Formats: sequence, structure tokens, C-alpha cells
Amino acid sequence: MNILSIITRKKNGNNLSYDELKYAFNGYLNGEIPDYQMSSLLMAITINGMSKSETLSLTDIFIRSGDAYDLSKVMEYSVDKHSTGGVGDTTTLIIGPMCAALGLHMAKMSGRSLGLTGGTIDKAESIPGFNVNLSEDEFYSQVEKLGFALTAQTKNLVPLDKKIYELRDVTGTVESIPLIASSIMSKKIASGAENILIDVKYGSGALIKTREDAEVLSNLLIDIGDAYKRNVKTIISDMNTPLSCAVGNSIEVIEAINVLHGKKCKLYDACVDIVANLLSMAKDIPYNEAIIHAEQSIETGNALKKFYEFVSRQGGKLGNLEVAPVEVKVRTKHDGKVSEIDALKVAELAAKIGTSKMKIDDVIDYRVGLILNVKVGDQVKYGDVIMTLYLKDKSIKFDNNDFSFIKID
Ligand code: URA
Ligand code: CA
Repeated sequence: MNILSIITRKKNGNNLSYDELKYAFNGYLNGEIPDYQMSSLLMAITINGMSKSETLSLTDIFIRSGDAYDLSKVMEYSVDKHSTGGVGDTTTLIIGPMCAALGLHMAKMSGRSLGLTGGTIDKAESIPGFNVNLSEDEFYSQVEKLGFALTAQTKNLVPLDKKIYELRDVTGTVESIPLIASSIMSKKIASGAENILIDVKYGSGALIKTREDAEVLSNLLIDIGDAYKRNVKTIISDMNTPLSCAVGNSIEVIEAINVLHGKKCKLYDACVDIVANLLSMAKDIPYNEAIIHAEQSIETGNALKKFYEFVSRQGGKLGNLEVAPVEVKVRTKHDGKVSEIDALKVAELAAKIGTSKMKIDDVIDYRVGLILNVKVGDQVKYGDVIMTLYLKDKSIKFDNNDFSFIKID
């Protein structure tokens, strides 16, 4: 076998065998195949696609590149969820405690923010003292005792995905649906939960732009789950406007607490929906019944209590949570109705003020962020505050274009 013929076969639209994929991808992982040849293969895959059987093969090769767990042996109701990325997507910090309050077990491995999307690990780390690097023992024992633990993805969870993802990120091959499917599912399967919910986002603020593509991806995710005997469910949701009114790190932690206190908003609805799906899958009860339990976990204060226990067990001191000191209020220049808040533009503004990393070695200021004070459909009058920015100092210069994504007609 040789890499050139594998690249050529994919370029010509042929299906690659398990062994060919294994030769190319494992060769890349152990340094035998250079970046330029893997980039070329990834581009051929992005352009010509992969069959279902190729996608299953690649997922398997990914899973076998590192450690894999099987939580069904140690926990009765293991659940996991994944979102394909978004803006103001604070769901994990809310869902984990809700699941724990309902007797489910969520052993959550999350990523950091990169580019325009935020990462749960950075949000959690904005709580002073919070430990995102639990040992394997600490991690699983906390899940068993409390029902929820959060840790940064270990180096050995699908190391091949980590290396491939970094290459895809800089070679224009991120949007390939089969590559996305094997990337997501290999990590979910290796993490070991039996019941998995994937929130497939589409729209301007998401990796996938159209509903049709989101549906194709969603079917592929379910097929891969079937092959590994996992219960996989997907929800397809629109990311044209941000999920939460808060975008940042510490500011999203505060919003998560507000939702756990019962604040009704789009983020609350999304979390109740996800938890109801997980509960219904894990305990085999109808969704309509599960939704009542999900809401009750918040109404009774049980989920909030779990959140506080979770933070304190991982060393976090919520009393020391900080929001950046310079507050800038953005006001409307005319009366009207809010017709659009473009999620991608919100993410760009958030990145400009420093909420996420644009380069690997950037340092995030966890205290900065923004609050959208209006939502689509709201009536506003001249001079109303539509957005509040929290900045570390006055050094960033803005012009009106930075704020024009809140359209008022
Ligand atoms: N999320 C992932 O984990 N991988 C992808 O390829 C895309 C989104
Ligand atoms: Ca089951």
C-alpha cells in the first residue's frame, strides 16, 4: 500500500477500504505521513465525500487510536451530550446538574474555545479555583457520587481526532460531513456513555449552514451510534441567533446560574429539551413525561443544589467570580422592532473583545463578555440599551459597524 495511490483513488471518487484508511490515518498519527499528504487526502474526502461504510471505518480507526471507556458496566444511566458548536451555548453547565438531580450520570469531557466558538472548559475555568484536570479516579468517582463531573479532554481520548482536527482547521476541510461525523462520534463512543444526545446546529453561527446538511449529518451520527449499540438521538436546532443572551466566560456561568434559578428564556427551553431527551432514552420513559421531570429538577432547586456541589467539589469559588470592570452600553438610534441578531457577528464581536482564542497561544480574559439586552421581536425606543459590553479597559476601539448586527426595522 502507498499513500499516493490512496490519495489518487479518493481523488478519483473511489471508496477506500478499512485498511487503506488505517494505513493513511495511523501513518499520519505516528508521523510517517506528512501534513501535506494528509491535507491532500482530507481535501479529496471533503470534495468527493465518503460512503457510510468508509465513515464507519474511519470512526473505528479514530476510536482505536486512544483510550476507550465503557460506562454501561459501571453506571446504570450513563448519558452524554454534544453540541456541534455555537454562540452563547452554555448548556453543559446547566444540563449536567439537571441530569444529576434526576439520577442520571454524566461524565463530561469538554473542549476549550477556539476561533469563534466558546468552550465549556474555559467557561468553567473562569470560576477561580475550578479544576478542569481531574484524574481518571477523581472524575469517575465524582460521577458516581454526584452524578456529574466535568474535565478537559484527556490527551489520550481519540488522539487521532485531535491531530486531524487541527489540520482540518487550517486546510479548509472542517465542513466535510463524514469527517465531522467520525470526529464527533469517535469521541462520544470512546467516552463510553450508553445514551447520547447530539445537538446539531445549523445557521450563520454554526459549522453547518443549512438544515438539509444538518439532517444528513444527523442520520449519519445515528447510524454510527447503532453500529456501536449506543442509543443516539439528535436534535436539529438553528444557530442563526445566539442561544443565550450572555456571551463570554464568567458571564455565561452567571447566566447558567440564572437559568438554574428558573429564568425562562431560549437557553432554559433548550436545556429542558435536551435533558428530557436524555432522561427518556436512559430510563425508557415517554418524552412528555420526561419533560415534566426536567422542569421539576429546576423548580425544586435540586439542579441548582447539584450545580453548587459540583463547583465546590471541583474546587471552584463562585464568590470570587469576576466580570470585567469597564461597562459599555450600546443604545439604539431609532424606534422599531428587533428583526435580526446575527449569531456569527455576535461571535465576531465577542472574539474582538477577547472572549475566545483566535490563535492557539492567545490568552483569554475570562472576565470579558457581552449581554444582549434585547431579543428578536422586541420593540425598542430611541436610546434604549440593546447590548452591554464588559471590557477589561478602554483600549478597544469600536465603530457602528461592530454593533449593526442587531437589526432594528
Ligand atoms: N465538533 C467536533 O468535535 N468535530 C468536528 O469535526 C466538528 C464539530
Ligand atoms: Ca438503554
